[in-house]
Amino acid sequence: MSGFAISATGLRKTFGKGAARVAALKGVDLRLRAGELTLLMGPSGSGKSTLVAALGGLQRPDEGEVLALGEAIWRRKGGALTAFRRRHCGFVFQSVGLFPSLTALEQIMIPLTYIGYGQSAARKHALQALDEVGLAGRETSRPGEMSGGENQRVAIARMIAKEPRLIFCDEPTSSLDRDNGALVAALLHRAAKDHNAMVLCVTHDDRLVPHADRVIEMEDGHLKTDSERTQMS
Ligand SMILES: Nc1ncnc2c1ncn2[C@@H]1O[C@H](COP(=O)(O)OP(=O)(O)OP(=O)(O)O)[C@@H](O)[C@H]1O
Ligand SMILES: [Mg+2]
Repeated sequence: MSGFAISATGLRKTFGKGAARVAALKGVDLRLRAGELTLLMGPSGSGKSTLVAALGGLQRPDEGEVLALGEAIWRRKGGALTAFRRRHCGFVFQSVGLFPSLTALEQIMIPLTYIGYGQSAARKHALQALDEVGLAGRETSRPGEMSGGENQRVAIARMIAKEPRLIFCDEPTSSLDRDNGALVAALLHRAAKDHNAMVLCVTHDDRLVPHADRVIEMEDGHLKTDSERTQMS
């Protein structure tokens, strides 16, 4: 074990060919600790989403290695990589990806049953997670019956219910108003502190900065700045 939740070295990724060729990652080294909320900031097109996809086992880098919880994830075969992601990784994206026909409780319970929870344990964890995001009482609501902020909170409840050790977010607050954005930031912070999760969050939202332990700025496929912060919240 490296001692880090994530330890990535020499990550490179290019897209396209010829004149359309884009180098999205140009050799990125990064180590992330458990129990910390790290923000990944920087201009559009600088490679933030590509980096998160490489670290989270979603998109294979052309070169480099990712050790996640001490395992070289990109050396795993497809099914084993999926199993690792399901068990240990939580994702929250701008588009929340809820199923229109399912209730809030079902959105959270069903993925838990995929990773081996029995019905009653899945229900218990799902109810707890809904409570934690301030949606106790909305168990039977479907996405069409909830606001954008409420749906984003259901997506976060679904993610935290399985207590992932590695949490990856890509612009989780960009479609939210001030209050909901602050709430999401607080939930991510709590996931890091209470569950000792590694939380990496891509954002353009400066309001998340006070909640973060560390802020990394990307520019043109590189890490440009990396600063540890003194906790204010
Ligand atoms: N699937 C793809 N095919 C071709 N080019 C891609 C693909 N994904 C990303 N790119 C390119 O790679 C570069 C980095 O993209 P990436 O999505 O990582 O940026 P980003 O920092 O997340 O930007 P934003 O803040 O706009 O989301 C960009 O130039 C983008 O056009
Ligand atoms: Mg992006």
